[in-house]
Amino acid sequence: MGRVFVAGSINMDVVATADRHPRIGETVAGTALLYFPGGKGANQAISATRLGATTTLIGRLGKDAFGDQLKAFLGAQGVDLSFVQATAGAATGTAVITSANADNTIVVIAGANALVSAADVTSPVLAKGDIAVSQFEIPMPAIAAFFKRARAAGATTILNPAPATECGTALLELVDILILNETELGFLTKTELRDTDDLVRFVEAARSLPIGRGKIVCVTLGKRGVLALIDDEPRIVAGRAVKAVDTTGAGDCFVGAVAAQLAGGNSISDALEYANAAASICVQRMGAAPSMPTAAEVKALISR
Ligand code: RIB
Repeated sequence: MGRVFVAGSINMDVVATADRHPRIGETVAGTALLYFPGGKGANQAISATRLGATTTLIGRLGKDAFGDQLKAFLGAQGVDLSFVQATAGAATGTAVITSANADNTIVVIAGANALVSAADVTSPVLAKGDIAVSQFEIPMPAIAAFFKRARAAGATTILNPAPATECGTALLELVDILILNETELGFLTKTELRDTDDLVRFVEAARSLPIGRGKIVCVTLGKRGVLALIDDEPRIVAGRAVKAVDTTGAGDCFVGAVAAQLAGGNSISDALEYANAAASICVQRMGAAPSMPTAAEVKALISR
């Protein structure tokens, strides 16, 4: 069995729920203020852990109350936090989220996440069969150093280029599996894509990514499911019809599930089916990290 290593962000999500989102310049009455553990790195690590993978998180927290709460939550889930540092002089990352009609807006204040460095990723020892996962809420030099180490060890690298940010082809060349949504795909390929577009448009855009042949691209399409390019062949995993209450963290659930499945020796095709089912559970619950399903829940759904 391989292990999962996630280098990424850890945030406290401060969520305001409302019946609808305010327009620019408008004030609306909210219905609740909620605090959830989040951050793309932490969410992906929780997802992989709950789905059965031995998972290590590499990241930074501030020395403050949010940092203490997040550390306690992550530790209680069984995530290995040996490489999560409490950083003096920086606040724990925070995400300010508005949630209405199962849709959200997110503003992230990076705080300590912005201090994750290339040196931070040098201590964990990866091996062949391990899975290295990262996203764009920590600095690019740290991600590049992490993936170089992973590659040297024979581990598989998964990049979730979220939130969409300019990145060089040198980083993309270090990626074995790219998992992104239609907005991120549109950004990286400078293509205007809508979630209602014909799937052929997504296939063309995915093929135009500068990541080289033989790499796997998975485009998560919300209700429509997942489109993957495996050996350059398109493959569709249909979305599951569920009533979503909060989609925050659903993409992270998917990424963590793919990583956990691959670490467990499963094929990419099986991993995608499994991750699609896991994400369909995640969207039916409020909050990011706490809404990640367990392996038993996914098994029950799949065998139904
Ligand atoms: O992907 C969802 C996550 O994005 C939230 O948990 C928030 O913290 C932001 O990082």
